Amino acid sequence: MSREAGKFAERRASLLARMEPGSVAFLATAPESLRNGDSEYPYRHDSSFYYLSGFAEPESALALVAASNDKPAQAILFCREKNPEREIWDGLRHGPEAARAEFGVDAAYPIGSLDEKMAELLAGAPALYCRLARDERLDAQLRRWLDAVRAKGRTGITAPPALRDLVPLVDEMRVVKDAGEQAIMLRAGQISAAAHRRAMRAARTGVFEYELEAELLYEFRRSGAQFPAYTPIVASGANSCILHYNANDRQTREGDLVLIDAGCELDGYASDITRTFPVNGRFSAPQRELYEIVLAAQAAAFEAIRPGNTFHSAHDAAVRVLAQGMLDTGLLNRDTAGSVDDVIASKAYMAFYMHGTSHWLGMDVHDTGAYRITEHPDKPSRQLAEGMVLTVEPGIYVRPAPGVPEQYWNIGIRIEDDVVVADGAPRVLTDEVPKSVDDIERLMAEEA
Ligand code: GLY
Ligand code: MN
Ligand code: MN
Repeated sequence: MSREAGKFAERRASLLARMEPGSVAFLATAPESLRNGDSEYPYRHDSSFYYLSGFAEPESALALVAASNDKPAQAILFCREKNPEREIWDGLRHGPEAARAEFGVDAAYPIGSLDEKMAELLAGAPALYCRLARDERLDAQLRRWLDAVRAKGRTGITAPPALRDLVPLVDEMRVVKDAGEQAIMLRAGQISAAAHRRAMRAARTGVFEYELEAELLYEFRRSGAQFPAYTPIVASGANSCILHYNANDRQTREGDLVLIDAGCELDGYASDITRTFPVNGRFSAPQRELYEIVLAAQAAAFEAIRPGNTFHSAHDAAVRVLAQGMLDTGLLNRDTAGSVDDVIASKAYMAFYMHGTSHWLGMDVHDTGAYRITEHPDKPSRQLAEGMVLTVEPGIYVRPAPGVPEQYWNIGIRIEDDVVVADGAPRVLTDEVPKSVDDIERLMAEEA
């Protein structure tokens, strides 16, 4: 088994150790998806399936059987068979034989034998762990497998009496990233940072949002990143106040801010960066004023990210700075909104900051794992630990409204970086793109 395959085998062993003896876990990869006509979306494997297998081909699945008194644990891969004709059109299929050797599983079978093999594996198993009630195709498969086992009931063979949800088990395993994962995420962050620098340099009044998007995509791909991790947001002017804007088709105008939220996916891992900059290369006074507040909020959030602190302490720290800034600038009226503590308690800040400050980041942009201790009746925020990776993305979004100072209308600002929780200050994966006012203005003054 290669060192690479060994890493996936270790993850499977770790999951198997959490399962009931003799029980079976089942996980399929993502289906292929038609875009229109005969054109498919670029294929992307299921993250958890890949996390446990390292296998990126479509039409594949993994079954794990936990050790019991008499039998060792087993990892079984199901995949497409070799097919010389299809391989001429679509490229390599490993086929079960090569896949077994290369991916370090105990057995591999053609995906066409899934029903038959799963019925065999489930006979007499005390429990089946799978994605429960999330996928109609799987629900129908389960029904077939369990029916097949139940049909043998008279011979004394029993179907698993317990169905358990596999999702929380694997989701939690993915929360702490190992050194290899962190190295990929650092590289993804560096590529995305280069893309943001490129877009900043290419900006000038009159540029279309999609032209800046093209700069990002060019840099991602030329650097070897396989995909954007999500649809890039290139939002100029009033569009910067639309949180999920991605039409990216407006022509910029003099004095606009441009908010770019874009990150690449590299080798299955996402990055997620937002920068906001003036299209003409110079912040106006009101833009700068709000920008400095958001930047200070991000710095406060970084200070709160320490092992042992709660996940939500970064958000709380950011909100305090943003709320103070909203009062100082008159976005919120002191006479009606009260003190900072009042603004926090009443959530009045949500008129201008309506999203969270952080989410887990990993194979998925909004990565898996709980944010709260769900078993506890009060659902308190969970503690951070070294190796967890999260975003830090405070913002202020000012839509025109009565009572809101007009100089701030249509200014939307977000600053987003990706960090690894470390012993002491967090390790920033995305610091190769400027974010102070001076550094941004200096970079934008350079020739594209
Ligand atoms: N780009 C997605 C997010 O920031 O959550
Ligand atoms: Mn994000
Ligand atoms: Mn983002």
